[in-house]
Amino acid sequence: MKEIIPRPQSVIPAKKGGTYDFTKVDSVVVDPKLSSSEKLIFSLLEKGLGKKLAKEGTAPIKIDFAAELSPQSYRIEVDEDGIKISAGDAIGALYAVQTLRVGSMMGTDKFDKEVPCGKVNDYPRYKWRGILLDEARHFFGEDEVKKLLDVMCMHKLNVLHWHLSDDQGWRIEIKKYPLLTEVGSSRDKSQIHGWLSTDVDDVPVSGFYTQEKIKEIVAYAAERGISVIPEIDMPAHLAAAMAAYPWLGCRELKRDPHYYFGSRIPLSQGIKDWNRSACIGKPTTLEFIRGVIDEVCELFPAPYFHIGGDEAPKDEWKNCPACQQLMQSLGLKNEKQLQGWFINEVAQYVKSKGKRLIGWNEVLEGNNLDRDVVVQYWTPQRDYRVIKHVKKGGNVVISKHKYFYFDMPYAQYPLKNTYMFNPYFEGFTSMYDNKVKGIEGALWTEWISTPSKLEFQLFPRMEALAEASWYGGPKNFKKFLQRVKDYTPLLDMYGLNYAKEEIYRPTNPFARVKTIRTWYGGNENVEYEKNDNKH
Ligand code: ACM
Ligand code: ZN
Repeated sequence: MKEIIPRPQSVIPAKKGGTYDFTKVDSVVVDPKLSSSEKLIFSLLEKGLGKKLAKEGTAPIKIDFAAELSPQSYRIEVDEDGIKISAGDAIGALYAVQTLRVGSMMGTDKFDKEVPCGKVNDYPRYKWRGILLDEARHFFGEDEVKKLLDVMCMHKLNVLHWHLSDDQGWRIEIKKYPLLTEVGSSRDKSQIHGWLSTDVDDVPVSGFYTQEKIKEIVAYAAERGISVIPEIDMPAHLAAAMAAYPWLGCRELKRDPHYYFGSRIPLSQGIKDWNRSACIGKPTTLEFIRGVIDEVCELFPAPYFHIGGDEAPKDEWKNCPACQQLMQSLGLKNEKQLQGWFINEVAQYVKSKGKRLIGWNEVLEGNNLDRDVVVQYWTPQRDYRVIKHVKKGGNVVISKHKYFYFDMPYAQYPLKNTYMFNPYFEGFTSMYDNKVKGIEGALWTEWISTPSKLEFQLFPRMEALAEASWYGGPKNFKKFLQRVKDYTPLLDMYGLNYAKEEIYRPTNPFARVKTIRTWYGGNENVEYEKNDNKH
């Protein structure tokens, strides 16, 4: 059995060696307390063994609930007579089977015959091990999302942060506001050739998830131990919604969802107010937001709602009678405080539904953030307010740019950044270990329009994220690189595309700079085109 990713916390081979013949397994006996994982456990093992398994037999894998183990944790004991698994919950049981399966399948599409005798003791370092998928900028659809969920489960990742709305698209059906998808889910072209370019293609982008489809995907994820957390970005990054309902803005402007990303194109056309925030002063805006949240929260059982809250300009609020009047009546001194008030209002509303709000670190701008709001820390520059929030007892999820922005070129952020991540590099100390809920890789898709490129940006970064979020022991990047290579047959088995080593581990500094320059202002596919893409 080869070393899997993420590495288990402890693997102790039996002193006297020996192996168990995996092909003898004829049944799986699952404790009724763990039954919610039973179906998937059978299907994974049956696929690997190439045969049907019974619920009782002479050579069973026995899976028991163990009250002393915490959720997501498990133990595997293998001796010459069989395999025994103990798990803290159904997901722990599923993870144990993933460990057995992945460890036996490296290099092949069928299990190795021999499983070495010994003991595995395993549990996660962080409770939150996530991937953000941006389907607002480009839309990938159900099949790709399910494929990612399967592979996330193999990597023991447990949060899909689903970015469902932005300036360029609205991707979730809201029955009370049908124009959100009728108007907000389509654009007829997109900016290409990077942030510094003004080039545009002529490829329409459209698509959204019906509420029924969302429920189906959320259930599919839950079966794999994955919580799906919806993000409806506001008060900015809301242009697709404002295209549908212009009254959401301080000024009613007739504009389409953006086909451009960032400021280069609008500024070249003299459009200075391209980045807009919704009007907070008009009561209709909060009524709209509450209506959206009502429906969204019904669809997602996860105990979090993500409000975004990033990159919100305040200039329109300064000139808006409604916003100014609200500020005056609340005694707010400036527009940052207005943003803070808005975030806390939504936090209260979400709380009334038994959920916690999460937002990007700009939600700290108002300086009075409700301590229960989880802060997701992304900004490239250090934000000392994040540490202050943690010191006051608040929680944080870390997605800092240079480790976790998987949309960036590998030349800029090589694989090693993600693998080596340590919160102590970013001003956290061991005192706050229990305040860091976890880490999340962000796959923004301004420059990703196909599943193949999506996977190229994501693999093997997902492996590095899995190891950084699950395994708490010492790191060895050189050995990790070998393990990443050993792992590729598994990615092939799922039909995934992935970057090759000379791309995820660029070594020539001059070539790196040249690639980065090209990526930003000439060809965002410069690395992708150099790769041996699988599809
Ligand atoms: C972000 O990248 N604006 C969260
Ligand atoms: Zn306003």
